[in-house]
Amino acid sequence: MEVTLVKADPWHWEQIVKDEKANQTKLYFPSLTDPEELQASNVYHLRVGIKNSGHISFKFHGNEAEINELLVLPEFQSRGIGKIAIQQVVDYLQSRSITLIWLVTHPENTWAIAVYQKTGFKTVDRMENPYGDGEPRIKMEYRF
Ligand SMILES: CC(C)(COP(=O)(O)OP(=O)(O)OC[C@H]1O[C@@H](n2cnc3c(N)ncnc32)[C@H](O)[C@@H]1OP(=O)(O)O)[C@@H](O)C(=O)NCCC(=O)NCCS
Repeated sequence: MEVTLVKADPWHWEQIVKDEKANQTKLYFPSLTDPEELQASNVYHLRVGIKNSGHISFKFHGNEAEINELLVLPEFQSRGIGKIAIQQVVDYLQSRSITLIWLVTHPENTWAIAVYQKTGFKTVDRMENPYGDGEPRIKMEYRF
């Protein structure tokens, strides 16, 4: 499977927010629906051939980075795209001399957790209700 990351331009943001809202669940809390978060993020489409299969996004915090979004659209899930996308972002951030990458996910999102663990992320913290939706979250880290 060949997955190409293509930087999303501001005129694609409306579609990105639409995709996130359409796929929101108890286990998946979209972050780019917050305009400030979207503005501060580096957002990339996940292209398979000419088709858009989702998006991934990250933010820099000094010499650390946060992956604040990963969405593979339902019709493209389970084909290895999420794993490839995360690995490409990890490789890119390594090339930018980032020393630590972190992300937050739901402790019951076992599928996302499997993707992150396979790439080398480790769970380092658990938080109760950090987003105010009554749900717990875990923090995972990748150290170079
Ligand atoms: C979670 C998500 C990102 C995974 O992306 P994906 O492209 O569908 O996943 P992949 O095909 O790369 O699967 C990677 C691993 O997940 C596991 N997996 C695959 N299909 C699965 C399924 N149906 N159920 C549970 N785990 C599964 C496997 O361990 C697989 O590794 P393997 O290929 O080495 O066996 C994607 O399903 C998604 O966007 N879900 C909705 C939004 C979301 O939860 N985002 C994460 C927010 S933190």
